[in-house]
Amino acid sequence: MENSKKSNKIAARVWLVGWGKVLSQTQTGSTHHVLSGEKIYMKRKLLFVGVFRLLEGKNVNLRIVERDDTDFMVDCFNNIDFWGEYDPIVEQKSKTERMKQFDNPSNLAILTERKRFIIQKKDGTKIGFIGHWIVQPNRMMGIGYDIIPSERGKGYGTEAIQLMVDYLFLSQNIGRIQAITDVRNKASQSVLEKVGFRIEGTIRKSAFVRGVWTNAYLYSILREEWKEPKTLTKSTR
Ligand SMILES: CC(C)(COP(=O)(O)OP(=O)(O)OC[C@H]1O[C@@H](n2cnc3c(N)ncnc32)[C@H](O)[C@@H]1OP(=O)(O)O)[C@@H](O)C(=O)NCCC(=O)NCCS
Repeated sequence: MENSKKSNKIAARVWLVGWGKVLSQTQTGSTHHVLSGEKIYMKRKLLFVGVFRLLEGKNVNLRIVERDDTDFMVDCFNNIDFWGEYDPIVEQKSKTERMKQFDNPSNLAILTERKRFIIQKKDGTKIGFIGHWIVQPNRMMGIGYDIIPSERGKGYGTEAIQLMVDYLFLSQNIGRIQAITDVRNKASQSVLEKVGFRIEGTIRKSAFVRGVWTNAYLYSILREEWKEPKTLTKSTR
């Protein structure tokens, strides 16, 4: 008992020192040079275990998808309206298939280290998904996001992306985060621009959407453009 109290105190102290360093380094724009190896592991671990049990925003939280979320996932993913007008519709899958996939992720999901999060309101209502994955061996990070139709246009998408960007730059040794969005998808472009992403160019015939090949914009935000966390700024517990 005494020992565990002692180790909790030490962990809290290590966290405070580490977090202070992250914040001061992000302010000087040099975080990615120093966040490496054990430090990243320690910060990631403390970020979740010690402080943020969820990634908490003002109106929404992000939390990693659990097996229990399969029903919500099936309801959303099998509903073509969930993907909006401009996102490719994903293959229909049964609850059993989704559960199997949860237990045995595809090679692609493993290779790209894909993680999915539930976007949920403060009362726990699930309203969408946001995910990240590695897009290059040199660890560029891609993100994707979708909100259920009834909850769009209320600011939740913007906040979820801001939370994810803060979390990724604070926890991963990456220089950029990118997103790809159909050239017609004004809502998606608007949320990305509100968070500070910029257009880099057009990807021609990038996706097969509702029977036609469509062009997309490649957006990105660099660590030096992000500068510091906007939403994930302090412990909330
Ligand atoms: C894209 C999406 C995630 C945005 O989430 P959201 O919660 O609706 O976003 P927000 O409410 O934070 O912001 C939406 C912004 O888009 C703007 N917008 C919405 N439709 C628009 C349109 N047709 N033209 C221009 N702007 C539009 C809104 O005005 C708002 O900007 P504002 O706050 O400056 O007014 C959501 O609309 C969605 O899930 N769409 C379907 C799936 C999809 O397209 N996913 C992204 C694939 S890249």
